[in-house]
Amino acid sequence: MFKKIHVLLILVSISFSNCNETKKETSEKTLALDSKATPSLKNSFGEDFLIGAALNTNQIKELDASAAALIEKEFNTITPENDMKWEQIHPNEDAYFFDVADAYVALGQKHDMHIVGHTLLWHSQLAPWMSAVNDSLAMANHIENHINTIVKRYKGNIHSWDVVNEALNEDGTPRASQFYKVMGGESYIEHAFKLAAKADPSAQLIYNDYNLWKPEKRKGVIRIVKNLQDKGIKIDGVGMQAHWSVEGPSIEDIENSIIAYSALGVKVMFTELDVTALPNPWELNGAAVEQSYERYEGDPKMNPYPNGLTAEAKEKIAKRYEAIFNLFLKHKDKISRVTFWGVNDGQSWLNNWPIKGRTNYPLLFDRNFQPKDVYHNVLRLKTNE
Ligand code: G3I
Repeated sequence: MFKKIHVLLILVSISFSNCNETKKETSEKTLALDSKATPSLKNSFGEDFLIGAALNTNQIKELDASAAALIEKEFNTITPENDMKWEQIHPNEDAYFFDVADAYVALGQKHDMHIVGHTLLWHSQLAPWMSAVNDSLAMANHIENHINTIVKRYKGNIHSWDVVNEALNEDGTPRASQFYKVMGGESYIEHAFKLAAKADPSAQLIYNDYNLWKPEKRKGVIRIVKNLQDKGIKIDGVGMQAHWSVEGPSIEDIENSIIAYSALGVKVMFTELDVTALPNPWELNGAAVEQSYERYEGDPKMNPYPNGLTAEAKEKIAKRYEAIFNLFLKHKDKISRVTFWGVNDGQSWLNNWPIKGRTNYPLLFDRNFQPKDVYHNVLRLKTNE
């Protein structure tokens, strides 16, 4: 039978494993505490709202170690910049491409993040085959197939969806998109939200758009949200994209929109935040908003900081981001998420829009993934609180 020595050995091994266990737990705890203690955007604003970034394909595939480290350290929510858009994920009527989307969701799960799906219905980056759909029933079926297939695939794993993106004109009237034209009105919006709610009742459902600080466009959003609510169709949030500049929009206009959307009983999220450091051609006297600004390409007046921002320009951006985040903190009870449209300046779409080939500085991290002065200004808002 068991000699004393055997019992002793078993006890020792149990205590060893326990001590290893506790060692592991302690190291995990210290790691967590360390990471909690590490100054970062997610640690600083974690109690106020989620904070994150849009990831491009390389970042989703973790092909860049510095990006991967920064994303894990700073953010607790992610959005796919392009890889879940219709043309990417559903390129042909009977073909879906889920490789990058699967990797995106896996990355978010690995870091226990709030995972956003962007975007189910958008007039832009729509797969070419959809432009041939001109029957309303066929359109309704394609939308149903698209939303059911994608939302059910990521049920419970994608926490919020930009269900419909940019369905309004600047004056708040409906945008005459392919969906609108073929289905003869805005019923496609109700159709999309109903389908998404049924496919994943646990996901947050968002209407997302730009310039939602504009009073007339605000009215359009309120019309869409109220129409869905009146029909008992689930909508949880309004996504203000927030592609802003140093000059505008005014904090007052943004605040009025936060208050107006929150008053509808939905959450407000800033879904694509960036602050361009460069002049916009339409700000030039009398210049209208046009599709292409090719004639400005290479114009040094429109690309004034090819080798870095001046101290004055840096100061302006820092002051602008401070004012924006002070507003977010003032209304943190209404705001659930702030997502930057990109991880660092080098990735930003604003290097090629509205004028191709410019050097822009719209985000908090530089082209080497290093925090910029403005990053520290934003964090200081919390430490000074
Ligand atoms: O995938 C092709 C690649 O195969 C080709 O080699 C390359 C060369 O031109 O183009 C690649 O497609 C580009 C795509 O991004 C993926 O990188 C498109 O040209 C380019 O136009 C597209 O730009 C995206 C833009 O949406 C399209 O409208 C931007 O990266 C993305 O930041 C931007 O994001 C939108 C939001 O989804 C909605 N709100 C506005 C925001 C800014 O436009």
